[in-house]
Amino acid sequence: MCGIVGYIGQRSALPVLIDGLRRLEYRGYDSAGIAYANGEGIGIHKTMGRIDDLKNILPAPLPEARVGLGHTRWATHGAPSDRNAHPHETGGVAVVHNGIIENYQQLKARLIAEGHEFASDTDTEVIPQLISSYMQKGFHFEEAMRMAILDLKGSYALGIMSASAPGKLFAVRNGSPLVVGFGPGEFFFASDIPAFLAYTKKFAFMEDGQIFTLAAGEEARLERLETNGNSGGNSGKRPPEPELKIVEIDWTAEMAEKEGYDYFMQKEIYEQPATVMETMREWLDDPMEMLRTMGITPKMILGLRRLHIAACGTSYHAALVGKYAIESLAHIPVEVEIASEFRYKHLLVEKNSLFVSITQSGETADTLAAQREAGKKGAHTLTICNVVGSTASREADSVLYTRAGPEIGVASTKAFTAQMAALCLLAVALGVKRGRLIADEAETLTGQLKKMPLLIEKALAAGPHVKEVAASVTGARSMLYLGRGINYPIALEGALKLKEISYIHAEGYPAGEMKHGPIALIESGLPVVVVIPMGSLFEKTLSNIEEVKARGGRVIAVTDEPASLQGKADETIPVPSTHPVLSPFVNVIPLQMLAFHTGVIRGNDVDKPRNLAKSVTVE
Ligand code: G6P
Repeated sequence: MCGIVGYIGQRSALPVLIDGLRRLEYRGYDSAGIAYANGEGIGIHKTMGRIDDLKNILPAPLPEARVGLGHTRWATHGAPSDRNAHPHETGGVAVVHNGIIENYQQLKARLIAEGHEFASDTDTEVIPQLISSYMQKGFHFEEAMRMAILDLKGSYALGIMSASAPGKLFAVRNGSPLVVGFGPGEFFFASDIPAFLAYTKKFAFMEDGQIFTLAAGEEARLERLETNGNSGGNSGKRPPEPELKIVEIDWTAEMAEKEGYDYFMQKEIYEQPATVMETMREWLDDPMEMLRTMGITPKMILGLRRLHIAACGTSYHAALVGKYAIESLAHIPVEVEIASEFRYKHLLVEKNSLFVSITQSGETADTLAAQREAGKKGAHTLTICNVVGSTASREADSVLYTRAGPEIGVASTKAFTAQMAALCLLAVALGVKRGRLIADEAETLTGQLKKMPLLIEKALAAGPHVKEVAASVTGARSMLYLGRGINYPIALEGALKLKEISYIHAEGYPAGEMKHGPIALIESGLPVVVVIPMGSLFEKTLSNIEEVKARGGRVIAVTDEPASLQGKADETIPVPSTHPVLSPFVNVIPLQMLAFHTGVIRGNDVDKPRNLAKSVTVE
C-alpha cells in the first residue's frame, strides 16, 4: 500500500532510488515520483503510471544528487494523477508518505484559512504545508517538522527532506512499516526490505513513534518522536531513547528477481516444492520442538479450550485449512475470522487462550489490530509470518516463520502453501501433545509432509494441460469453484486467485451448499472447477458434479482419481494422492496455474493486478 524509499550517501542517488522503487512496485502502481537535493535546491519528477513511466520523464543525463526520496503510490485520497503523485513539496520541504492522515481535512481547512494553497487532493500534502507554515512562523526546519508530526492523526511512514538541511534525510514511522538499511557511510530507507537487498543486508526495523536522522558519513540518530498517540502521558517523565538494533537479513537480492521466469507469480508458483520444505525443515523431525521454541508450554496446550485464528485474503484461506487440520488432528475447536471483522466484534477470547495471526507481510493493518486486541484480552499471541522483523513478528508473543523468501507477485501463492505447512506441523504437534494423535499417525503425517516437495512437483507437471484449460475459459464471464471439507478453502482460494489476476468473476462454494443458491447460476457452458480428491467425500462430490452436468455446466475436475471421473467431468486435471489432511497442498497448485495462465492469456499484468496492493497497511 504505497512504497517509499530514501537514500543518502556517496552514490548517485537517482539510480539507487529508481531501483528501490522498481522492487517495491508491488506495493502500489498508480503513480510514481522522486525528489532529490543538490546544490541547486530540491528537484522533483513525478507522474501518473508506473516506474517505467517515471523513467521516461526523467531528464537525460540523470541529475546528480547524493540524497533523495521516492514513492510508488496506491491511491487512497485523490485519484491517480500527476498532481496527486508523491513526493509533495512546499517551501523547499519534500515528503513521501505511506498511510493515511485521518485528520487531514481539519488540518487542510486550518492551513487554507491561513492562506496556504494546495496543489493536490491528497491527505499527504498537509504534511509539507504544515512544516512550512511552522517555518514561516519562525521555527527552524527540524522543530517545524516535529511540531507538524504532533498535529497528525492516523498512520504514516514518512520520508522527509528539506532544502534548508540538504545533507540530511529523515525517516519517521507511526503505524506504517519502515526499515532503514545501513551501508558504509550511507543509509537507505524503504517500506520493505527487498527494495535495497542489492546494496545491504543490514537493516533496522523502525517502531512506531520513532524518527531516524540520517546524514552521509555520520552515525545514524534514532530518537523517540512525540506523535499524536504517544505524547508522553501524564507521568511527566520522558521515556528513554530507543536502542538501535541492526539485524542481518539472510534473503539475497537474487531471491527478489525473476530468475528467468516471465513473471514473479510464475516463479513463485514453481518455487513451492522448495519453499514448503524450507518452512518445515527445522521441525519435521520433531514438531514438538517447534512448540518448545515458541514458548507454548504443555500446560497451555492442555488447558486450551479453543484456538482463534485471524487473517486477511489468501492468509485467511490458509487459516481455514488450519482449522480443519487442527480440529481433525488435535480435536481443539478453532475459530477462524477475517481480521477486519475480528478486531471490531465483541471478543470472546479467554485469558491464556491461543491466538494465531497469519500474515505473509506481517504488516497488514487489520491483522495487526486483531493480534493486538487478542493480546489485550490476555491471549498468548502467535504469528505465522514470512517477514523477519515485521511488525507482527515483533509484537507477537511467539513467531512461527514461514520460509517462503520474498513474495513479490501481488497474488499470493508460495506464502499460502508455506502457511499451510506451518499450520499442519502445528496441528500435528498439538495433536500429539493433547494425546489425540498417536506416534504412528504423527509419523505417517510427517512422512507425507517430507514427500510434499515431490508431490507438488508432480502437481506442477500438469502445467501445459492447465494452460490449455485456461485458454478455454478466458472468455467466461463467471466461474464457480466447488470443494468440500478441507478442500472447501481451496475452492475459495482458487476463486480468489482467478478474480485477482484474470478479473473474471468467480465464487468459491462448499459443494454441498450448491443447491442452496449457486446452482441457479449454472447455465450452458459455465465453467465449474471441482476439487474432488479420493476419500470419504468423493461420492458426495461426484453427485454434485452430476448436478452441474445436468444443468449444462462444464466441469473441470482437480483430482487424484481421474479414472473414476472419465465421462463425468469435461476436463480432468490430475494431481498426486496424499493424506486427506494434506490434499490442499497438491490441489491448490492447478488452481494457481489456472488463474495465472488465464490472466496472462487475457493480457493482464498478473504481477500487478489492477486496484490491488500486496501489503494492505491501512484499514
Ligand atoms: C493483500 C494481498 C493478498 C494477501 C493479503 C493478506 O490483499 O494482495 O495476497 O493475501 O493482503 O496479506 P498478508 O501479508 O497479511 O498475508
